[in-house]
Amino acid sequence: MKQVILTGDRPTGRLHVGHYVGSLKERVELQNSGQYDEIYIMIADAQALTDNAEHPEKVRQNIVQVALDYLACGIDPNKSTILIQSMIPELTELTFYYMNLVTVSRVQRNPTVKAEIQMRNFEASIPVGFFCYPISQAADITAFHATAVPVGEDQMPMLEQCKEIVHKFNATYGETLTEPQIVLPQNQACLRLPGIDGKAKMSKSLGNCIYLSDEAEDVRKKIMSMFTDPNHLRVEDPGKVEGNPVFIYLDAFCRPEYFAGFLPEYSGLDELKAHYERGGLGDVKVKKFLNNVMQAELSPIRERRKYWEARLPEVYEILKEGSAKAKKTAEKTLAEVRHAMQIDYFADGRMEI
Ligand code: TRP
Repeated sequence: MKQVILTGDRPTGRLHVGHYVGSLKERVELQNSGQYDEIYIMIADAQALTDNAEHPEKVRQNIVQVALDYLACGIDPNKSTILIQSMIPELTELTFYYMNLVTVSRVQRNPTVKAEIQMRNFEASIPVGFFCYPISQAADITAFHATAVPVGEDQMPMLEQCKEIVHKFNATYGETLTEPQIVLPQNQACLRLPGIDGKAKMSKSLGNCIYLSDEAEDVRKKIMSMFTDPNHLRVEDPGKVEGNPVFIYLDAFCRPEYFAGFLPEYSGLDELKAHYERGGLGDVKVKKFLNNVMQAELSPIRERRKYWEARLPEVYEILKEGSAKAKKTAEKTLAEVRHAMQIDYFADGRMEI
């Protein structure tokens, strides 16, 4: 079977380091593994509009920001197809047919939808479009016959819902759609990176993000202001490593070789953690090390971003070509779906009363 990746992001803001360790890094590794026949990375503007209908300019501006972040992280347009969701109207038609296979109560039970409804104060009046976005996301995935969907942990309920739609469709209309598998990062610390304030999630509205496009000095300032163990007041005090954002970031970003370069008096992360827990290791020293680690990880990304920022017409061309290529694939799947549903009236040659 063909191995196909489909994944994407809503263009509602620049991407941050939580996106990077939670999914982008994995995507680049999968892209470079050579194990996939096709890779599609979607900038989900139509999905972004489901809860930003009044702010089309925000979505428009962030299309290019997200594209730049992708290219900066190492998504290679020669290996991966970057596309804009709304440029592929076939996705909307698929969504419309899939809506018949999903109940209102099933969407209401989707934990991600539930949490988002609360967060956006939609309880009293949920926009229908927003409510249906898990169904539209199933269209995104199945339109490309995706076998693997590398995303953050928060997308698990979307994948479950997509699989149910695939099963229901195939059982009702015959084997047509491909069942996808979710691909999560192996490293626990990468699953959900906390904000620099220690809050469970990095989020633009909380103002606790380190962005991939932040300048080196801003990254340094953010790291030096990070929350740590609130009871670790003096250097001599024993400190806690679990739940301590600085150590969670080290778990997510540090590679063994950074010790030789930046902190040679420790053999590795375990020894550093043990010292912190014992007492006698100050937060500033750990933060300075984390800053060196993050700068080493982020500076090639920042450089590549600058390279592409200076070539915007090429970036737009990549998006245009990627969308055109993706549309061809989606057209083919839509024809298969219409055939399975017996609504390909003039293509099947059947004429009967
Ligand atoms: N829901 C994803 C997000 O919030 C974006 C997305 C849209 C997506 N369509 C997708 C992710 C299909 C994976 C597959 O960022």
